Amino acid sequence: MSIQVSNINKRFGEFVALNNVSLEFPTGELTALLGPSGCGKTTLLRIIAGLEAQDSGQVLLEGEDASSRHVRERQVGFVFQHYALFKHMTVFENIAFGLRVKPRAQRPSESAIREKVTSLLELVQLDWLADRYPPQLSGGQRQRIALARALAVEPRVLLLDEPFGALDAKVRKELRRWLRRLHDELHVTSIFVTHDQEEALEVADQIVLMNKGNVEQVGAPQQVYENPASPFVYGFLGNVNLFHGRVHQGVLDTGGATFDAPEHATAQDAQGVGYVRPHDLDIDRYTSGAEGIVVQLRRAHAIGPLAQLELERSDGADAGLIEAVISSERFRQLNLKDGETLVVRPRRLQVFVDGQAKQQATQ
Ligand SMILES: Nc1ncnc2c1ncn2[C@@H]1O[C@H](COP(=O)(O)OP(=O)(O)O)[C@@H](O)[C@H]1O
Ligand SMILES: [Mg+2]
Repeated sequence: MSIQVSNINKRFGEFVALNNVSLEFPTGELTALLGPSGCGKTTLLRIIAGLEAQDSGQVLLEGEDASSRHVRERQVGFVFQHYALFKHMTVFENIAFGLRVKPRAQRPSESAIREKVTSLLELVQLDWLADRYPPQLSGGQRQRIALARALAVEPRVLLLDEPFGALDAKVRKELRRWLRRLHDELHVTSIFVTHDQEEALEVADQIVLMNKGNVEQVGAPQQVYENPASPFVYGFLGNVNLFHGRVHQGVLDTGGATFDAPEHATAQDAQGVGYVRPHDLDIDRYTSGAEGIVVQLRRAHAIGPLAQLELERSDGADAGLIEAVISSERFRQLNLKDGETLVVRPRRLQVFVDGQAKQQATQ
């Protein structure tokens, strides 16, 4: 089912939880709503489900205004962070629940329920747990059962609110891969809320980045990671180094080193910041006349395939350490020692002037 929200506003008292949010959730795709805690993700999900009313704006389900539709009629499936399985019911009965409470006319027969629950248990690969009770399951198993229960009523849309948020890192990772495979099988239009950027980037077809009730950017994972539309997105989607300076006619001058910023060709002595990912920095030993930013190696640690370097600028410009990531192989080749003088050169740098993004399409 296609879902669209347009110009959604929501306040709690004076507090603006959602500020004119307009989004499209493509049919059959898995969209991640990503943003820091408190940015409005759950509120938006609850409005889509009909559990919360917006102050203004529309929710369109299949192009049709959903405002008059009760939660039950919207045919949404839910999975929350805190598993809401019924403790006194077996796994089997938990999954069957949504079918058993249907009005008599729509309720499937006992044998149809049995068949449905069995196939869902197979789908989530837990058919051997049918007769257990929720307290006898691990956290990850409970969330898979919660998902099976949500799917039992054949929802037209699946809403997942930090479903793996309470699980430990290893189980989370397993479950998000599992969810992705499951989604590829079912293609139910799904909205997955998370504050974990890695989780969102790995699992989603489309990412919606939210900040303080606003949508900052919408795009495919690679697109939002490689072309962040704002300093917020840059900072939220991984580590980043900031190079403060002045931007003048397409050049960022950081005091000591200058960088091309052709997208700001018309800038006139504006304040600007260059954003560079740690792995987009080239590192070399300093030689006189070398181009780049001169730094001292404060500390390096190479564990596994990557070496992380903490660098301090020697030119006095800009306090704060620069973080660089190079391959451990390159690190060993260079044979660097703490305290050595190096030069770094950004391979890729994006400049924002006055905290403003260059004009960039969101889609
Ligand atoms: N019922 C409510 N009453 C008052 N404030 C609320 C209510 N629900 C949410 N909020 C506030 O709205 C903001 C967004 O909340 P929420 O949508 O839960 O954020 P997220 O899910 O992104 O962490 C938060 O600051 C939260 O405190
Ligand atoms: Mg939330």
